Amino acid sequence: MTPGVKPLIAGNWKMHGTLAEAAALAQAVRDGADGLPAELLVCPTFLHVAGVAAVLTGSPVAVGAQDCHAAAKGAHTGDVAAPMLRDAGATHVILGHSERRTDHGETDAAVRAKAVAAAAAGLIPVVCVGETEAERRAGQAEAVVERQLAESLPDAFAGVIAYEPVWAIGTGRTPTEADIAAIHGVIRARLAARFGAAGATTRILYGGSMKPGNAKAILALPNVDGGLVGGASLVAADFLAIAAAA
Ligand code: PGA
Repeated sequence: MTPGVKPLIAGNWKMHGTLAEAAALAQAVRDGADGLPAELLVCPTFLHVAGVAAVLTGSPVAVGAQDCHAAAKGAHTGDVAAPMLRDAGATHVILGHSERRTDHGETDAAVRAKAVAAAAAGLIPVVCVGETEAERRAGQAEAVVERQLAESLPDAFAGVIAYEPVWAIGTGRTPTEADIAAIHGVIRARLAARFGAAGATTRILYGGSMKPGNAKAILALPNVDGGLVGGASLVAADFLAIAAAA
C-alpha cells in the first residue's frame, strides 16, 4: 500500500454472463460493500454497463467499461465511444488490457489515444501494463513495463495503473511477492519522475490470479494500491473477501 492512498479493488468481468446474471452479481457486491477498507469498481461488458450502473446507483460501488474508442464519435462500426460510456453510468474504463493488446493488436500508441479520449469524456482510465512469460524469462520484465508506461500514458495522465503479468492472468500462477514489489517500485519511480507529486500517489493495482487466499499478502506490499481481479470477481463473496483483505 501507498500511505494515504485508499486501495481500489476492481473486478474485470470480461465477456461473461447474461444481463440478469450481471445485475445479480452487482446487487450481491452492493449488498456487501459497506464498511470495506477499499473502494470497489466493477467492469462488465459494454452491453451490461447501463444495467449494472442502474443496480449500483446510490451505492459506493463504481462501474467501468473494459475498453473505449479513441474518437468521441463517428463512423466506427462496432465500437463504443467514451462519452457513451459516461452517459451509460460508467466512471472508469480499463484500457490496454493484455487480452485487447493480443486479440486486437492494440499498440501503446492506441492505448494512449484511448486514455486521452477517456479523460476528455470524464472517465478515469485504468491503464494495464505487463510482460509476457518469454519477456520475463529474458530478463526484460522491467524494461517492457517501462516502455509500456512511457508510451501508453498521455502527458496529462490522471488515472490508475494496473500491473498484470500476462502469464499470471487466468492461470492460477502469480509472481513472487518480491517480484511484484520490484515491478511496482519501478512503476512508482517512473510515475513520480514523470508526473511529480501526482505520480507519487497514483494507484498501482496488481492483477493476475488474485484471489482471497493470496490477496492479503499481495495487497500488503509497498506500492500495491489494490487489485484488478478477473476470475475471482465473478463470485461476489470472493471479490468482497479480496476487498476485505485490503
Ligand atoms: P484473473 O484476470 O484474475 O482471472 O487472472 C485478471 C485480469 O485479466 O484482469
